[in-house]
Order: sequence, then structure tokens, then C-alpha cells
Amino acid sequence: MDSSADAAGVLESSDIGSQKDRVVTEEEWLQRWEMSNIGFHKEQGHPLLRKYLDVLLNGRSGLRIFFPLCGKAVEMKWLADVGHSVVGVEVSEQALKQFFAEHSLPYCEEPVPEISGAKKLQSTSGNISLYCCSIYDLSSYVSLMITLMEKNSSYLLVTVSYDPNKHKGPPFYVPESEIKSLFGNHCEIKCLQKVDDFSDKHRQWGLDYFLEVLYILKFVA
Ligand SMILES: C[S@@+](CC[C@H](N)C(=O)[O-])C[C@H]1O[C@@H](n2cnc3c(N)ncnc32)[C@H](O)[C@@H]1O
Repeated sequence: MDSSADAAGVLESSDIGSQKDRVVTEEEWLQRWEMSNIGFHKEQGHPLLRKYLDVLLNGRSGLRIFFPLCGKAVEMKWLADVGHSVVGVEVSEQALKQFFAEHSLPYCEEPVPEISGAKKLQSTSGNISLYCCSIYDLSSYVSLMITLMEKNSSYLLVTVSYDPNKHKGPPFYVPESEIKSLFGNHCEIKCLQKVDDFSDKHRQWGLDYFLEVLYILKFVA
């Protein structure tokens, strides 16, 4: 662990005080997609997912893998290409259409009768189904994730860590204590790695460190 990771360790003992009412509205997300203000999207996929894919898959093939808040994550294509099926949820239709277009994947669209205004965009091959709706239309996020996880299923979760007194977000700082309070009753929680992801962008935000923190959650009860 580097010195910035140590700093994050110290921060864990404080709360998220200055970011208490943090929220990015659905309208703001849609606007980001419209303006192509999508600095969060990693064109090459997330290096931590690539690195820890074997930990997540644990030798299993033909899995059904859920991507909440999927945007146009390229990892969905990787996983479908190696034989898994993928289900995603994303509020921006533009993001989902870009996903299919950028991977030259034909797809069809159909309404989701149970959710007013929601659509399912499904690859013609059938192995990628992306729901265009708010995840909150499905249920609250954490309880949804818990209901989707069968015993022993795994959830790879990445959070970011920085001094929340210096930047109001997004992305928002999520301390380990929050992960424990949300998932601890149902999951074993293991931190796999803390990665220094500090860049000029973060310096301009007024930060002096910025980490990505990767967890694997294993559903036990
Ligand atoms: C941090 S980005 C993840 C992007 C993705 N990893 C990618 O590479 O494109 C979060 C995504 O969640 C979507 N989103 C935000 N709130 C949502 C909600 N309530 N329901 C569904 N999607 C939502 C945003 O539009 C955005 O694409």
C-alpha cells in the first residue's frame, strides 16, 4: 500500500460529513451522456476488473452477470464473448445505444410491461440484455443486489476514496464502514486492492490523493 492509501486508512475513521446529502440526479446523468461528459467511462475497460476477473468467476462458466448502472461498460462485451450472459441496467438510452453501436452488435428493443417507460435492449444473439430504466424502478439498490445474489455468489465492487472535505463529488467517497453497514449482514467483505488513481483531474478538484478500492463480496446468508 502506498502513502496515499495510508491516508485513506486514516480517513476511514471520520465520517462522510461534508458529502452527506450527495446525489447526482437522473437528469444530471442524462445530461452528461447528452453532452458526452463521460469521463467516468473507461474505453479499455476497468483494469481492476480485468485483473480480478478470475477471482470473481472462480472457474465458473456460463454465468449470468449483472451490471447495475452499466453505462456502456465494455466489460459487458468481454464477458459475453467468453460465454457468459450479461444483464445491465442504465437510465440513459443513449449510453445503451452507444454500447451496441460501438461493438457493432445488432439488437432489438421491447417495452418492459412491469415498469412504465422502461425498455429492454437485447442483442440479437440474446446474451446481452440491457434494461433502460432507473435502478430505483426495480427496487432500492442494495436490497436489489442482495436479492439477486444466490448463496456463494460474488459481487465485485469498486469504490473511490479521497478526502470528502476537499471535493463534493461526484464520484462520491464511500468508506469501508458504509460497505459494511450496507452489506455486512449478508456478505463476507474482502478488500482486494487499493490502487492509486490520482491524476491531474483530481489535483484540479483540490485533492491530494485519490484511490480506487476494490472489494469482493461473497453472499453467505
Ligand atoms: C459511473 S457511471 C458508470 C459507467 C460505466 N462503467 C461505463 O463505462 O459507461 C454510472 C452510470 O449509472 C447511470 N445511472 C445513474 N443513476 C442511475 C439510476 N438510478 N438507474 C440506472 N442507471 C443510473 C448513469 O447514467 C451512468 O451511466
